[in-house]
Amino acid sequence: MSASILVACATRYGSTQEVAEAVAAALREGGQAVDCQPAKNVRSLDGYGAVVLGAPLYMFHWHKDAKSFLSRHQQALMVRPVAVFAMGPLKDEAKDWQDVRAQLDKELLKFPWLAPVAAEVFGGKHDPAKLTFPHNLIPALKQMPATDIRDWAAIRAWAVGLTAKLQTKH
Ligand SMILES: Cc1cc2nc3c(=O)[nH]c(=O)nc-3n(C[C@H](O)[C@H](O)[C@H](O)COP(=O)(O)O)c2cc1C
Repeated sequence: MSASILVACATRYGSTQEVAEAVAAALREGGQAVDCQPAKNVRSLDGYGAVVLGAPLYMFHWHKDAKSFLSRHQQALMVRPVAVFAMGPLKDEAKDWQDVRAQLDKELLKFPWLAPVAAEVFGGKHDPAKLTFPHNLIPALKQMPATDIRDWAAIRAWAVGLTAKLQTKH
């Protein structure tokens, strides 16, 4: 039996964690053993044959916990298949998707050693009533309507397609 898959995530308001759990559930349905953990809590990748890392974009940057996860585990990640996803456009418009894709690509360029087997952008969730400091001081964010454009069918389909790509290299 193949080693377990780690789905590691970073989140601030919880929407990325819910997506990570959906990805983990879809991988489990495919017969994989999967752990889903906050990226900041992961001390070692021993025992994991492959990794999925998911995190939201904030102010054009991938969540710091995702970036520190990559730096901390570089050696182990270089010898395992890694898939990544980022959240998230808040409007389902072509320009927004393109811009966010470019944001993720730019962030990934900071890790030239990383060759993800898959890299995807998913729509995000925004609830102005739940914003915490300092986001709750930004009028544009407070005035934005609540939205949730996470496409659960697309998330599941992506995860199902990952199973073959995450087969261990060794
Ligand atoms: C202050 C703030 C800044 C954001 N900046 C970006 C951004 O630069 N790019 C993007 O695609 N989404 C951005 N978003 C949207 C979030 O990525 C989206 O709401 C995501 O679902 C949040 O994930 P979380 O619930 O796991 O924290 C921003 C949201 C907030 C509140």
